[in-house]
Amino acid sequence: MYRNVLCLVLGLIAGMQLTEFWGFLTFTADEYESTAIAVDNAAPTLPLKVSLADWLHHQTRVLCMVLTMPKDHATKAAKLKATWGARCNKLIFLSSLDDDALGAVNLNVTEKRSNLYTKVRAGFAYVYKHYGEDYDWFLKADDDTYVIMENLRHFLYPYDPEAPVYFGYRFRTSYPQGYMSGGAGYVLSRDALRRFNLFALNSTKFCPLLDRPEDRQIGYCLLNVGVIAGNTRDDLGRERFLPMNPRHLIPEVQPGTWMDDTFYFKINYSDFCSDTTISFHYSKTHDFDLYEYFLYKLRVLGRSETSYTLPKRLDGKQMEQMLEYWSAQKSENPTELQRL
Ligand SMILES: *[C@@H]1O[C@H](CO)[C@@H](O)[C@H](O)[C@H]1NC(C)=O
Ligand SMILES: *[C@@H]1O[C@H](CO)[C@@H](O)[C@H](O)[C@H]1NC(C)=O
Ligand SMILES: *[C@@H]1O[C@H](CO)[C@@H](O)[C@H](O)[C@H]1NC(C)=O
Repeated sequence: MYRNVLCLVLGLIAGMQLTEFWGFLTFTADEYESTAIAVDNAAPTLPLKVSLADWLHHQTRVLCMVLTMPKDHATKAAKLKATWGARCNKLIFLSSLDDDALGAVNLNVTEKRSNLYTKVRAGFAYVYKHYGEDYDWFLKADDDTYVIMENLRHFLYPYDPEAPVYFGYRFRTSYPQGYMSGGAGYVLSRDALRRFNLFALNSTKFCPLLDRPEDRQIGYCLLNVGVIAGNTRDDLGRERFLPMNPRHLIPEVQPGTWMDDTFYFKINYSDFCSDTTISFHYSKTHDFDLYEYFLYKLRVLGRSETSYTLPKRLDGKQMEQMLEYWSAQKSENPTELQRL
């Protein structure tokens, strides 16, 4: 009884504090402008006005690690490299054939679906060994994932890459916290990558080599080394990492489908997709050009420019509160777990 009251009171306090600090998580374009100018002053050769996307490119450095295989080097992988991959700070393809022109490394793992987990483990080991301290965030994607890098950086900007956290589209499973969809792509902080390498890869207890899906297994290893599953939904509860192709968003995401069994957070079937979406899965090679056209070329004449705000960076205490808040988030899926 007293315990319940105590929990309620603690919950209320935490809730109030969270509401309070949400208030100062964003600051206006004017304030951003002054930050940008301060940065420019330090480097006078830069133009005074840089776009937010260019500025963020240097503030929030993302290494992209993309699963592919030799037969797709010239097609899917090349298309990815020519489109969104070009916006990564560093792009590495995980393959079974070295290809310097593409930027693919041979990880010496036989190509088959059941080896994806082994391959991603080897990929994270390779990336950690060669680039572990050179970037802030480490994105794992497939060669049919399309990522809007500007939105990814904007989303990540407030968070400290030295916090043990990772982000993506969150599925529910038989272990707590769930895991992030491999196809939608997921992104590890520098500390998450470090923990994975130092404490998960050498431990068959924390990170067993089982013949299970890649994303589920990586999620299990990360959970065991204290990496928190962050929340990527926007303030209307809509998703930013999408484990599907945009043309399937509305008709296919329906109650009773695979998504319905596995979602971690409740889905609003009539409004699923955030205005600041970060990724799409199941992208065909021709989709990449289509997205590029709609996102980066096509203009709708007569509409005013979207105004933007840059989220404020969290300090140590706020980041800690955020991690606690995320790690306490329970699945909103009402179906029984043994179905998984
Ligand atoms: C794959 O094996 C070759 C030959 O043994 C080796 O030279 C190379 O470093 C290995 N690649 C990785 C990423 O371990
Ligand atoms: C893995 O390596 C870490 C860091 O060196 C060490 O603390 C830990 O005990 C190792 N785990 C196992 C199971 O060997
Ligand atoms: C779901 O989205 C629709 C359309 O935006 C909105 O009207 C409705 O309130 C949302 N439902 C919930 C439960 O958020």
